[in-house]
This record gives sequence, structure tokens and C-alpha cells, in this order.
Amino acid sequence: MDSSRRALFLREMGLSPVWRLRGEDSAPGMPASEQPRIATGRIAAEVSAQVSAQPEVAQVPALMQDDRNARIMRMEWAELTAAVATCQACPLAKTRTNTVFGVGDQQADWLIIGEAPGAEEDARGEPFVGQAGRLLDNMFASVGLRRGDNVYIANVLKCRPPGNRNPNTSEVAQCAPHLQRQIDLIRPKLIIAMGRFAVQALLETDATIASLRGKLHRYQGVPLIVSYHPAYLLRSLTEKAKAWEDLCFARRTMAGL
Ligand code: URA
Repeated sequence: MDSSRRALFLREMGLSPVWRLRGEDSAPGMPASEQPRIATGRIAAEVSAQVSAQPEVAQVPALMQDDRNARIMRMEWAELTAAVATCQACPLAKTRTNTVFGVGDQQADWLIIGEAPGAEEDARGEPFVGQAGRLLDNMFASVGLRRGDNVYIANVLKCRPPGNRNPNTSEVAQCAPHLQRQIDLIRPKLIIAMGRFAVQALLETDATIASLRGKLHRYQGVPLIVSYHPAYLLRSLTEKAKAWEDLCFARRTMAGL
């Protein structure tokens, strides 16, 4: 990317003129002394108590649940896409306009995982197309990444929680097999989990983003980097520089894989 475009993106992110993408050596990131923390998770059937308590409507018997999960784990892309599009496993099916399956290169090295669709995503059926998505695209561009180009973007939840409320445990549990199968099919080299819900679901931890970022985690053996959610960055301008550091760390990590 030429330097004027990069400058434009950095300005858009509120990072210009302080942050410039330079050589790998000088990019901010993890101190050499910091040992990678290995956290191997499976998408948590139960997310932490921090997840808002909502009425648990779908009570599916455990055996049927196992059967459903096993079926999803055998699906190829077309079947999985159709399964999500017609999913009725939780009450979000009744309030959604569209399911938001995920978008991008199905063999991508980079997998970005967000939380759940918002209003624009629900209307258009594509993840991160609202204001937070535009910031995400600019953040990608600032480190030479582009949506769909060796990048896949998905959410933990495929349906919008009404009014953008927090996802609840039951919704995450019902939707988790879909994301799990996407990860299995893509086999990314690196996952970036953005925001508390994605991180909690993948790493099964209640730890804060601040305490988890800058370290290399693992999800079922796949290196995973934690960063702030773009919607949070829109509200908290000072954290944008940290998200930029996270992307630089991710780039360096990818280069070493
Ligand atoms: N926030 C998310 O986590 N995902 C989207 O797709 C949009 C907003």
C-alpha cells in the first residue's frame, strides 16, 4: 500500500501522526521477556457469569444436543451455511432479519472473530459492515490486510441479539458448534479474538482484555491473539493505539509461523 493511503487509514483510526507502520523490529508489541501463555480452549458452552442473565428458553435434552453437535461437526461449507440460515435453535431466530454466517476466504490464514451482528449486519447478512466494521477495515488496511483477502471474519453468534444486548449463555452454547465447524474447515494459521465475548467464548476465561492482550494464546492449537472490539474503540479513542499494537503483534506472529 502506498504511504498516502496508509496515512489516510491511520488518520481515520486516530493514530496519525503518532503511529507509523515501520519495519517489523520497530513495531510495538510483546516484550521479549514475556513468555507465551498457552490457553487451549474449546468454545465455551458456558460463558462466564459476566454474560448477562437472560431467560433460558431453549432447553434441548443433552442427548439431542450431542447429536446436533456431531451433525454440525460433519458438515461441509454448503451444508453449514444452510444450517445457519435456517437455524431455530435459540429465540434469536424469531427476531433476526438475516443470519450472519461469516465472510471471506474459506482457506484464510487469518480468522477474525467478533461477538454478534449489530443492526446493519442483521439487515445485510454480513459481519462488520456498520461503523465498527468500517473501523475494522481501516485497521486491517493500516497493516496491509483486506477483508476477504486471506482473511475470514465471523462472529460467535450468527444472529443479532435484539437492541444489541449482550449474548446470553444459552445463545452462545447453541451457536458455538457453528463457529467451531467454521474454524475446523478454515484451519486458520492465526485467530484474532475481538472483544470480551469472543475471548470468553474461545479461551474460557473471565480475565480482562487488558490482561490478555500482547500474549500469544492458543485455541485448540491455533495461535490466538486478543484485542479490543472495534465498537469499544469507537467509544474509547485512547485504546486505538493499543489495538494497532495488537495488529502489529499479530502480523509479526503470522510472519513467524
Ligand atoms: N460487532 C461484532 O462483534 N460483529 C459484527 O459483525 C458487528 C459488530
